[in-house]
Amino acid sequence: MRRFYTTLFEVRQGHFFAANATLAISMESQLHQLRCIGCATVIVQRDLKENFRCLGCGELYEVEYPSWNAPSRRPNASALRWLWQERRSSTSPVDRSGVWRFRDLLPIVADERNIVTLSEGNTPLYELPRSAEALGLDRLLAKHQGMNPTGSFKDTGMTAALSVAKEMGYRWVACASTGNTSAALAAYAARARMQSLVLIPEGKIAWGKLSQAMDYGALTLQLRTDFDGCVQVLSEVVRKAPVYLLNSVNPYRLEGQKTPAFEIAEQMDWSVPDHVIVPGGNLANCSALGKGFLEMKSLGITDKLPRISVIQASGANPLYRSMMANGGEHLEPVEANTRASAIRIGNPASWRKAVRILRETGGWCEEVNEAEIALAKAEIGAEGIGCEPASAVTLAGLKKLVQKRRVASSETTVLLLTGHTLKDSDYTIAYHRGELLREEEAAPLKPEIELTRRNTIEIDASVEEVLRVLERVSA
Ligand SMILES: Cc1ncc(COP(=O)(O)O)c(C=O)c1O
Ligand SMILES: [Zn+2]
Repeated sequence: MRRFYTTLFEVRQGHFFAANATLAISMESQLHQLRCIGCATVIVQRDLKENFRCLGCGELYEVEYPSWNAPSRRPNASALRWLWQERRSSTSPVDRSGVWRFRDLLPIVADERNIVTLSEGNTPLYELPRSAEALGLDRLLAKHQGMNPTGSFKDTGMTAALSVAKEMGYRWVACASTGNTSAALAAYAARARMQSLVLIPEGKIAWGKLSQAMDYGALTLQLRTDFDGCVQVLSEVVRKAPVYLLNSVNPYRLEGQKTPAFEIAEQMDWSVPDHVIVPGGNLANCSALGKGFLEMKSLGITDKLPRISVIQASGANPLYRSMMANGGEHLEPVEANTRASAIRIGNPASWRKAVRILRETGGWCEEVNEAEIALAKAEIGAEGIGCEPASAVTLAGLKKLVQKRRVASSETTVLLLTGHTLKDSDYTIAYHRGELLREEEAAPLKPEIELTRRNTIEIDASVEEVLRVLERVSA
């Protein structure tokens, strides 16, 4: 088995020697610590509470790597770039993973044998030429995280945090979910021979996602509440039972979810786009990507930051409201309601992290309505790519940013597509049948919507009938 045992130590500044030297494993748990984003208290892993909140101020923690601050311990940027590329051609599952090939920048597991991987990451970066043309942009790209093993970006975070759970000796892992987290959790737990508990809001998740949790063997409880209610119940459960919480309050999830930032840079020959646009629900993903771009810049792997903008559905827009009302100083939870069920979240846990990323990168927060989301989703479908409804807020939001001249025609934008189009096929079919949106919702975009709708046509089973339809539509 060919593999590249190469350590952070080995690639630190000025100390990179052999191309594929066989040395010790690459992760050392003592390399990381956790800093509260509220009061800056620093703790070590074993002092984390079950709900991952700071005992002093109640805020969340962020993983940090103090050794990077010492010039002599800083990783060597060009050596890392080379090493990450080389690992892709290794036969080791850990090397090939699009998360763990970057493990030098997420040394969170002490023993590599605890890593649970399903070959996540390494997702495509697609050009969106039609949408670019329609918006008058030179270049528009989509990083499709829906091309992960369970069909969403959650896999990159789940491989990281579930590996930590395994290393800590947990048998049970749990999450509250709008659907995709439960699918990822159930799959990775099954892979690790661990037990999984998922709490989902009854009747409010897409069938594709529910079917995944069932298929991968999770104990699936549908609670008569919304996502925010599920979170509340679970935060009590983990205090009373030996169950490891894998919601995105778990800081190790974000370590995995930062790796698409590395991939985007790598896929653009180590340059960085001008803008990255991310859907906002619980607001962990935009925070994780921001962390990835900030770390790359501070380590000299890239030389600039993209502006990271967050787009919310107007029916689930607490961050947007907060940015408008008080510049992100306070956040009032809302009762969330959108057909993009993955982002139907009214009380986002990671909002402070998200505000910090908006400020540090100079990005914006926008809201988009149901018709704008549905149309954008159809347009991404028409590129031959597709995505789930929550992901389409990115294109809908980009339209607003272009209109407001926040994105210039010469600038390069990457949309973060978070979920696969097959996750919520009921939504897609309802849209194309003209049954998704109410008349008044669709009215302002009616001509555009009609141009993108492709309903099925029922005809008799005859060659003449098929030819007749062909002639009619090509006329
Ligand atoms: C497809 C999809 N897009 C976007 C999001 C939002 O991500 P976050 O909750 O990290 O903001 C989710 C979260 O569940 C999701 O499943
Ligand atoms: Zn604190």
